Amino acid sequence: MSTEQSQGPAIETMLLEQRRYQPDPAFVQQANAKAQIYQSDPDEFWTEEARRRVSWFQPFTQLKEWNAPFAKWYLGGRLNVCYNCIDRHVESGQGDKVAFHWEGEPADERVDITFADLQRRVVRFANGLKKLGVGKGTPVAIYMGMTPELPVAMLACTRLGAPHTVVFGGFSSDSLSSRMNDMGCEVLITQDEGWRRGKRVPLMQTSAEAMAASPGVRHAVVLRRTEAEVPMTEGRDVWWHDLCADVSDEPESCPCEPMDSEDVLFLMYTSGTTAKPKGIVHTTAGYLVGTATTHHYVFDIKPDTVYWCAADVGWITGHSYIVYGPLCNGTTSVLYEGTPDFPDKDRWWEIVERYRVSVLYTAPTAIRSHMKWGPEYARKHDLSSLKLLGSVGEPINPEAWVWYREHIGGDRTPVVDTWWQTETGMIMITPLPGVTTLKPGSATQPFPTVDAAVFSEKGEPVPPGGGGYLVLRQPWPAMLRGIHGDPERYQETYWSKYEGLYFVGDGARVDEEGDFWLLGRIDDVMNVAGHRISTIEVESALVDHQKVAEAAACGRNDPQTGQAVVAYVTLKGGQEGSPEMMQELRQHVARKIGKFAAPTNIVFTPELPKTRSGKIMRRLLRDVAEKRQLGDTTTLADPAVVEELSSRGRELAASEEA
Ligand code: WTA
Repeated sequence: MSTEQSQGPAIETMLLEQRRYQPDPAFVQQANAKAQIYQSDPDEFWTEEARRRVSWFQPFTQLKEWNAPFAKWYLGGRLNVCYNCIDRHVESGQGDKVAFHWEGEPADERVDITFADLQRRVVRFANGLKKLGVGKGTPVAIYMGMTPELPVAMLACTRLGAPHTVVFGGFSSDSLSSRMNDMGCEVLITQDEGWRRGKRVPLMQTSAEAMAASPGVRHAVVLRRTEAEVPMTEGRDVWWHDLCADVSDEPESCPCEPMDSEDVLFLMYTSGTTAKPKGIVHTTAGYLVGTATTHHYVFDIKPDTVYWCAADVGWITGHSYIVYGPLCNGTTSVLYEGTPDFPDKDRWWEIVERYRVSVLYTAPTAIRSHMKWGPEYARKHDLSSLKLLGSVGEPINPEAWVWYREHIGGDRTPVVDTWWQTETGMIMITPLPGVTTLKPGSATQPFPTVDAAVFSEKGEPVPPGGGGYLVLRQPWPAMLRGIHGDPERYQETYWSKYEGLYFVGDGARVDEEGDFWLLGRIDDVMNVAGHRISTIEVESALVDHQKVAEAAACGRNDPQTGQAVVAYVTLKGGQEGSPEMMQELRQHVARKIGKFAAPTNIVFTPELPKTRSGKIMRRLLRDVAEKRQLGDTTTLADPAVVEELSSRGRELAASEEA
């Protein structure tokens, strides 16, 4: 366990961090959140928010049922997420309001999609899906780029009551097929190709490879985006436009399926400490209430807010804070297909200026890229519309926080550092703008009613100033309901460390004023550019290569991506490592998992350091990777391996500095 290791430098920085930002009185005046919100009674709060923010076909009769670790919320209620995100806004006269300002990566493509447009698109596509036999309960996979059709596909599924899993478009065919097989997906929605930094991403090609290993997938629906030639299998694969050519877009032709509060809305796969990704289960009502409520207060959403969450819809951030929360609140959003540096490094700021964006939500890794490129790109544009900035995905270092506020926020805007997870579904620890005194590097306070604490190894609350394990002590509406098909793993992963408490897997510290400072993952999960990747997955991918005998992976701090993957590899039959071999292994990992998981560095070693019980000593590997002094090695089986490794570590350091 590396808590001590990873806490050291983090705490030092934070203790030095004395800057404070009081809320601006003008902001306080108009803020959605008032200080009293922290005094709310949890049950009253979530009852009221559910009635205020969501339209019910049938009202719930019981707020929650908690049989740890199994929660149910809004029992007896019936509702439909698509109805809440679209139809009711059109019915109440908001049909002409823009839901998405969509911008394609090729700079000449822009479409404003109103709520009424969105309704027509969703209804038409849902009618198309019905022709393929999709209905309530049919599991559907979605593997797309950031086209408008991605949220359309998700919403069409929710309209029909079909649970979806969106697989990030950077994943490989293996990753896609293992997710589809785990969920039992019958239909896959994809596109010919995607655009990324001016290059084409072969989504249908990868989908075809994945379907070869997923015989349960009966049909693929393929959106035409780049017009590339792609392999279509007769009888199985159908073009989106053909499927929708002869169907109605009248809402009455495809009514919203009334769903039970606890019906599954979607699965989102996330890395765990064993190779198989976990299908995190989110259900209908609690998730929608939780995301809409947090979106309203944390981002101070007003009817005229132009909101931009610059994440990818393929991750939980995009589900909760591009699609479901904002649409439920009837918010106008920006949806951008490409990367921040295409065609140039001011693309984001051009977008902020064009749409007069008022709220921008992104990740520290992106902020650090902009820092590296320099503030001159932001300076070229009028960013005065910005009112609020948000950060998510990993701890934000105070330098990046202050840079973000000064160079993007004009030294005016609050910055909300929001902590949460795929599993929590909604933001859990965050400042509330207009209420909270901000501290760069701290996510500050649990959201009202959220019961977070920092525990010692023994399960006692750690006094102010000390580091420990973050836990959540009370259920919350958007919490995961389990791991798909594996209740034991659910119990084991999240609920076994401390009886009846949710074990987060992050280290944290609470300061004298009760503010939380997140210290990163304490399990074998790396956080690379805000993406959670487990060491085991990378190791399995490496060992899958025919020349690899054994492999260990770990994360190393990286100024740009938060963490970078470093791998230690023992080759079979005394083979020597070489730069070519390193390249080959990198490509192998990229093929098996996705490019973002490919190790930035590979250290070839004749043996891996192991404890007497045979466990790989990741702490030691991390030390080598971090070019630090080696820690205590007395539990090592073979001390010679350490010598070897530390000299390899020195070589690695030298080669990098060269
Ligand atoms: C990390 C993303 C510090 C953390 C929404 C968590 C953060 C993991 C923050 C979840 C933050 C996310 N400060 N760390 N503001 N936000 N994390 O499931 O380690 O992709 O457990 O969800 O990201 O990543 P996930």
